[in-house]
Amino acid sequence: MVVVDNLSTGSRSKLPDVQNTNFTFIHADVNIRRDMSTIMLSHKFDAVFHFAAVVGVQRTQQQPIDVLRDIEGFQNLLELCKNSSVKKVFFSSSSEVYGEPVELPQHEHHTPLNSRVPYAVVKNVGECFFKSYQQTYGLPYTIFRFFNTYGPDQSTDFVVARFLSAALKNEPITIYGDGSQTRTFTYIDDTVDTCVKIFEHNLLTNDVINIGNDRILSIKELAELIISLTKSKSVISYLPPLADGDMSRRQPDNHKMRTILNRNLIEIEEGIVRMAHDAQFLKHIGL
Ligand SMILES: NC(=O)c1ccc[n+]([C@@H]2O[C@H](COP(=O)([O-])OP(=O)(O)OC[C@H]3O[C@@H](n4cnc5c(N)ncnc54)[C@H](O)[C@@H]3O)[C@@H](O)[C@H]2O)c1
Repeated sequence: MVVVDNLSTGSRSKLPDVQNTNFTFIHADVNIRRDMSTIMLSHKFDAVFHFAAVVGVQRTQQQPIDVLRDIEGFQNLLELCKNSSVKKVFFSSSSEVYGEPVELPQHEHHTPLNSRVPYAVVKNVGECFFKSYQQTYGLPYTIFRFFNTYGPDQSTDFVVARFLSAALKNEPITIYGDGSQTRTFTYIDDTVDTCVKIFEHNLLTNDVINIGNDRILSIKELAELIISLTKSKSVISYLPPLADGDMSRRQPDNHKMRTILNRNLIEIEEGIVRMAHDAQFLKHIGL
């Protein structure tokens, strides 16, 4: 297995040790065609997972041009994959493609895509690229629409890790807006197990799947739950709402995911407790 990453938000320390594994790491930027071409030509890949992206609500709002540049990565990768050894490509899209929802739960094929902000529009463009290369060159794909995922290796740029870090340190938990915006929270193991099963059993070829837990919580309820589970003394403080891109509601129709996973999804209470006891997470937040 070869992992290519430019380490913009990723970190080498979160990847497996290169020794004694069949794992190789290459520091490169997927948006640079020449570099990707060398990598693709020197390996005979069976499958490619395109998960690289500029991520994080604040970062994607502050650096919209960098977000748009990710379109070059789609083109580079698909051009290099077509007519190669690659039998299937996988793309990490996002629940953001649904934009402000017109219905809940959001269904892969019935719910309109109201993408508006650059990150969401680029994910939508990415989906179009993968579908068009399949249509034109016969390159099979699966598109994962990930909903809010959390887990021990996550950066504290993201809400669960940020709230949990504050709670464990008894520091204030800050919320943008009044905290009534709702989200669903998916534990990383549910996300990874679903993706791996799809890959190993060659499921959902030329199809799209929502990958997310469908239990809804408001951001305020999340903060209160984390405070209660960690017996924290943190107080909740409120900041003005983000200018754009903070959708009021989101919930996946996750029937496809549940069928593939074939086990119960991990409840948010259990996920938070697992994270709060994870040595890597505690080290990462300086505890
Ligand atoms: N975590 C979620 O809740 C969530 C939700 C929806 C979609 N996604 C998508 O899932 C994918 C993985 O996200 P994540 O949450 O694991 O974030 P992450 O930051 O851990 O992963 C993204 C990785 O891409 C790398 N990267 C960024 N631009 C690159 C480039 N041009 N070339 C090479 N590497 C590059 C980063 O260094 C990082 O390691 C992303 O495409 C993201 O948009 C994640």
